Amino acid sequence: MKHRISLTLMFALSVVLAAASVSAEEGGHAEVARQKWVFSGFTGQFDKAQLQRGFQVYKEVCSACHGLKHIAFRNLVQPGGPEFPQDAVKELAKTWPNQITDGPNDEGKMFERPPLLSDPIRGPYHNDKEARAAQNGALPPDLSLIARARNVERNPSWWVHPFLMLGDIAEAYQEGGADYVYGLLTGFADPPADFKLTDGKYYNKVFPGHQISMPPPLSDGVVAYQDGTPSTVDNYAKDVVAFLSWAADPSLDTRKRIGWQVILYLIVTTGLLYLGKKRIWAGIKH
Ligand code: HEC
Repeated sequence: MKHRISLTLMFALSVVLAAASVSAEEGGHAEVARQKWVFSGFTGQFDKAQLQRGFQVYKEVCSACHGLKHIAFRNLVQPGGPEFPQDAVKELAKTWPNQITDGPNDEGKMFERPPLLSDPIRGPYHNDKEARAAQNGALPPDLSLIARARNVERNPSWWVHPFLMLGDIAEAYQEGGADYVYGLLTGFADPPADFKLTDGKYYNKVFPGHQISMPPPLSDGVVAYQDGTPSTVDNYAKDVVAFLSWAADPSLDTRKRIGWQVILYLIVTTGLLYLGKKRIWAGIKH
């Protein structure tokens, strides 16, 4: 009897999974492929060298249009991040092209000054209107939280969803935003023959609607890596996405480490409490 139930369950599960893969293809949405990230899962941590390369890509390419206003220069020095030397970051702040508006000074006027360590990493535009005016009406969003603000879209039938969710919980999947931004950066392509592309837009496989106002920002060789990592679009995209994932969640390393310590502590405490309970009740008939 038991055997029959488990066989039936296995059959049901395989039908569900088969249906899931069929409906994913029918959905019309480009499926965003999942990537392997060193910081994923229950124990994953950021790789400092990758974050440093990712910042280099942000600085040399993305910062021409996008800000990173929730990250201050001093965050680049902190443990758990790219951990650049403080002097290098001070120098970087001094020469950052986008100055900070400060004031009023003794004459009551606002003035511009180079950023200090405590200042945010500003983008090139003072406000959204200036950004839109410069970018043909499109707004390049601030990238500080983009890895959390985006996610992958999946459109399976409603009854498949719970199974996918359980799968995500089982592997602690939180990298939907990272997968999407990686897919976006590597998803520029020629439009299919029957696709009507609006002037000034670019075809992208994963952007909703497939037309984006951002010109393809990466091409092989645009950033010269110092550590021997090959200068390819794929590596740039991986590294800058790792960096943006850190920017959106700077305490991920500490959080996961403390989480494991707490679980270990609770296991030990449970054992001690159990032994204590046995001892207290040992002489009492019950
Ligand atoms: C020439 C300016 C420019 C550069 C350089 C640039 N972007 Fe963009 N980006 C834009 C604009 C404009 C948009 C808004 C697009 C739209 O709404 O159609 C955008 C949108 C985005 C989005 C949001 C997409 C969405 O789902 O809404 C992400 C993520 C992004 N850019 C990442 C990057 C990264 C990472 C880099 C560096 C590798 C970069 N961009 C370089 C102009 C730029």
